[in-house]
Amino acid sequence: MDKAKWLDEFAQGLYENGWISFDITPWLGPELLRALQQEIIVLDQSDALKIAGIGRGSALIQDRSVRRDKIAWLQGSTPSQAALFDFLDNLRTGLNQRLFLGLKRFEAHYATYHCGDFYKPHVDSFQGRASRIVSLVLYLNDDWQPTDGGALRIYSRGSESDAGGLVLPEAGRVALFMSEEIRHEVLEAHRTRYSLACWFRQDVIPLPLSALV
Ligand code: OGA
Ligand code: MN
Repeated sequence: MDKAKWLDEFAQGLYENGWISFDITPWLGPELLRALQQEIIVLDQSDALKIAGIGRGSALIQDRSVRRDKIAWLQGSTPSQAALFDFLDNLRTGLNQRLFLGLKRFEAHYATYHCGDFYKPHVDSFQGRASRIVSLVLYLNDDWQPTDGGALRIYSRGSESDAGGLVLPEAGRVALFMSEEIRHEVLEAHRTRYSLACWFRQDVIPLPLSALV
């Protein structure tokens, strides 16, 4: 399938249901997936991932009853991250062309959930903020079994409780969803769970005032 067809399907899924899940391996390629897997394993083992918070800026708090993952922001600085950023930018422009979302940029982090970790039901963006518009999660685990827990549970659009679907965090699988509309949670993991989360945003980075004069 060519990339335009993939993008058509992603856009259709987002439009019709607010979310879609698919295996991106044929687009990314198994080598890049393997390289990203290696990166997060090294980061995890070298203790480079930090406890994630909720909220933002000065309101950022760390609440272990809500989320227990550890994260590291990607800078696009390694060859694999650069290749991934290239893919994410293709996705950004492809979705803009099809859904007129006006996505301007993205941010991405690696995340590790160790045994017993979870992320309670939440949405990724507060309504009206128009900052995070589309969320993407790419999974990086080989041979994930249903008994390993750690599935992404997606709720139906606009619902607090209707189950929309369960996504197993198997390597190459992606979940793509509307950040404000789709409530979701990460069920408790029974083994280490590696992923990469990305948010496509409508805002631009505010320039410091000094850059304007
Ligand atoms: C998040 C999130 C889902 C997942 O990081 O906000 O909901 O499946 N992640 O890792
Ligand atoms: Mn989320």
